[in-house]
Amino acid sequence: MSDPLEQLQDCQRQLLAACLACPEPDRQRQWHDDLSPLGWHLGHAACVETLWLREHVGGQRVLDAEARRHFFPENLGKTYRSRMLPPWAALSAWVTALQAANLQAWRTLRTASHLHPLLAGDYLLHFIIQHYAQHLETVRLVLEARALTVQQARPAPRRPAGPAQPAATGRWRTVVAGDYLLGATDHPAPYDNELPAQRLAIDGCQLAERPVTNGEYLRFIEDGGYAQRDCWSLAGWAWRCAQAVGAPWHWRRTSEGWVELGTAGVGSLAPAAPLHGICWYEAQAYARWRGARLPSADEWEAAAGQGLLREVGVVWEWCASAFAPRPGFAAFPYRGYSTPWFDGAHRELRGGSSATPAPLRRTSFRNFYTSDKRHIRAGVRLARDLA
Ligand code: AVJ
Ligand code: FE
Repeated sequence: MSDPLEQLQDCQRQLLAACLACPEPDRQRQWHDDLSPLGWHLGHAACVETLWLREHVGGQRVLDAEARRHFFPENLGKTYRSRMLPPWAALSAWVTALQAANLQAWRTLRTASHLHPLLAGDYLLHFIIQHYAQHLETVRLVLEARALTVQQARPAPRRPAGPAQPAATGRWRTVVAGDYLLGATDHPAPYDNELPAQRLAIDGCQLAERPVTNGEYLRFIEDGGYAQRDCWSLAGWAWRCAQAVGAPWHWRRTSEGWVELGTAGVGSLAPAAPLHGICWYEAQAYARWRGARLPSADEWEAAAGQGLLREVGVVWEWCASAFAPRPGFAAFPYRGYSTPWFDGAHRELRGGSSATPAPLRRTSFRNFYTSDKRHIRAGVRLARDLA
């Protein structure tokens, strides 16, 4: 699928289909403190496309005050979004109409004799595709959060158990000290935070070939890792004491052992599968328990760029570093995508998860969440200094 207009329509169809996977009244509900309802994501993604394409580039006024109030995150808090959402039939009809008119506008504006600068090289089209893809990923997380709530109340039939033996994290791979070209070099529309690509110095280090598995993490739990104060940072221990957690987000201990909940059903823990459902504090505590540490995002990117890492893109990988601008950073095409989150509170994640759509899967892509988020399909890959 090389035509980006086809990619856009594919993302739109997938977003709608993901919402339709859930019974209608549940599309308007909030399933998690950090997650807006499915219907909000659909309306928001269509409004953002419309705003950039027909309003900013096309110079029209399309969205009324109500649409602006409801579907731009800065205008309406998450907890109000389910109450303000139009009924599903009205919402989906409105979105379909917006997208049909947008498609016409793409066709006209992309071939105009005076091409708008944002349309050069199909920049804006790729930007909007990636925005749909980000919300498609979040919608998949909403479905996951809903599955946890539903399964909690009414356990589903069990999936067969996975392989019995936990796979080891595997070998250590060495990143030798030196300058590495980091950032986006050959993508048609990288995010501002991936630019400018530049050579950056990395001290030598080692990264695990594979992410930490469920089986490995289970040993940390069984060793009482959640109660071992010295595994945790100060902030991590404060989080741990406030939370009453003792396992990843979607794990439950039953009389027959540990199970994982999710849209795939309730199943026994697969020991060899990469772990997810942990926040940055847990990732850091686990690494300390292993006598290792988290990789910095630059170390991760240097290792991935050399093909040293396996099982990339199965779970997001928490990095040690706070999400921060690289030298020469310039906000583009708007300040709000990256800049507000260079706040020291957001940590960087790399690689992508099984919920991440193709338009976001690249070595230079930088994701970011605060240290306490457990619902984003994030796990951990260990690192250590060279001896
Ligand atoms: C980069 C995934 C944290 O979902 O808040 C979507 C992406 N930015 N719309 C988010 C994003 C604007 C962002 N994350
Ligand atoms: Fe958005």
